Amino acid sequence: MTVDPETLFNDLAAGYEVAFANNPTLRTFVHRIVTVLPPKSQLLDIGCGTGKPVAEILAGAGHDVHGIDISAAMVKIAQSQVPGTYEVADMKTFSPPKLYDGACAILSLFQLTPGELYSLVFKFSEWIKVGGYLAIGVTPSTSLQTEKCSYDPTWDCVRVIGKLWMGNYTNELFYSEDGWCRLLQSAGFVIESEPVNDLFCPAGPQYTDPEAHYYVLARRVEAEPLLGPYPLPVVLTPTSLISNMNVFTDRLVSKDLEALFEGLIDGQKLLALGQANDLSCYKRLGNIQVFSGPTESLPFSVEIFNAVLAPWRFDSTAGLDKAIQEIVRVTNRRDSQIMILQGAPGNEAVMHLNAVARSHRISHQGYILKIAAQRLEKHGFGDISLRRIRAHYEFPEKDLATRCTVAAELLADIWHKKHPHYDLIKKTLASRLRLHFQSHANSVGNEMVLLVAKPSS
Ligand SMILES: C[S@@+](CC[C@H](N)C(=O)[O-])C[C@H]1O[C@@H](n2cnc3c(N)ncnc32)[C@H](O)[C@@H]1O
Repeated sequence: MTVDPETLFNDLAAGYEVAFANNPTLRTFVHRIVTVLPPKSQLLDIGCGTGKPVAEILAGAGHDVHGIDISAAMVKIAQSQVPGTYEVADMKTFSPPKLYDGACAILSLFQLTPGELYSLVFKFSEWIKVGGYLAIGVTPSTSLQTEKCSYDPTWDCVRVIGKLWMGNYTNELFYSEDGWCRLLQSAGFVIESEPVNDLFCPAGPQYTDPEAHYYVLARRVEAEPLLGPYPLPVVLTPTSLISNMNVFTDRLVSKDLEALFEGLIDGQKLLALGQANDLSCYKRLGNIQVFSGPTESLPFSVEIFNAVLAPWRFDSTAGLDKAIQEIVRVTNRRDSQIMILQGAPGNEAVMHLNAVARSHRISHQGYILKIAAQRLEKHGFGDISLRRIRAHYEFPEKDLATRCTVAAELLADIWHKKHPHYDLIKKTLASRLRLHFQSHANSVGNEMVLLVAKPSS
């Protein structure tokens, strides 16, 4: 029986500090972070534990620390012994009140699924100012005993199901040292200084084997993490085999999309590009003009809409330039907005499909958005913002084999119906999804990015 991190760390509480706080290599690493930070920096400690030693060293150097932790017991101890503000929060759903000069996530990134960890690293990048710092401490997969590991080829990481740690069994996730550096770079960071490898033996007679630790200090350099993963490609992949995408199946669940569509309907003259039945799950389509033909030639006169929605329209659009030109032509120039939805970095559906169909890959979603933003700006829609839209497909089927088959078919049908190896893609997906459903029992993520462009002021 495995335990979740909240239960695990509520039970361990002060016992964790006794075993782990006296760690000379970690202390030296945190002192090094202090030397690069501007005075009185605003810092976020993600999975702060009892606050010792990380928050204590940072606060002791005059920085303003905000610690978050999923365990109420840990937060209570941190509040009682280290200066700063501390709150009980799950890093997966945390929404920061401000941008930070730096963030630390020390030995707190294990009990996550690969999709969660991948998108969290991008979120860390969004939470830090450009030029700000991220410090991580992890255990590298290269230190693990291989007979206990499952390699996950979709995310190029290692998963250990039921790992024994401090008397409990947990499900944990590990990247290699190189994998970590690549992931950080994908999310818009550069590695600031030589990473540190260490072997640390926790205090206490029960610990006979040391744990391998790997510390990396990185600096955010990219302005828009949501346009990643970086580096961006130099051209868009040709996608002639991707046709009639229907991302909006009746298994797609998204409160964010419901709210977006609801907000659009009132008083707007709205054009939605896509199949009417794709969008019908978002109800009240009454006043909306839906057009499912090619975006490159819209059968409408100039400037008649004050909102245009283009959800997942550019994967199959060869002429992105012409399509943007057409959207701009039919949108008026006052109080109007153009909204483009594409996949977020680490979108689980896209990652799974690209991993099993390495030819005819789904295009780089961030690059599509970047090109679209450049063209929109050129045509006078230069007031651009980006935000995440949470969404997932639900698979309530009780039987695991059925769930894998149904999910594999749904995902393959969205993008790869015309792929010459369609049957093989479905079969490979079904077997990969067995591993996926071990941690996300009934869902596959389809997180998106919403680009909103308004006329330049
Ligand atoms: C191994 S301890 C490390 C604590 C501290 N960073 C240190 O180095 O002393 C990991 C901490 O991460 C927290 N944690 C694990 N998953 C979390 C999540 N999803 N959100 C917030 N905190 C989490 C745990 O509750 C625990 O306090």
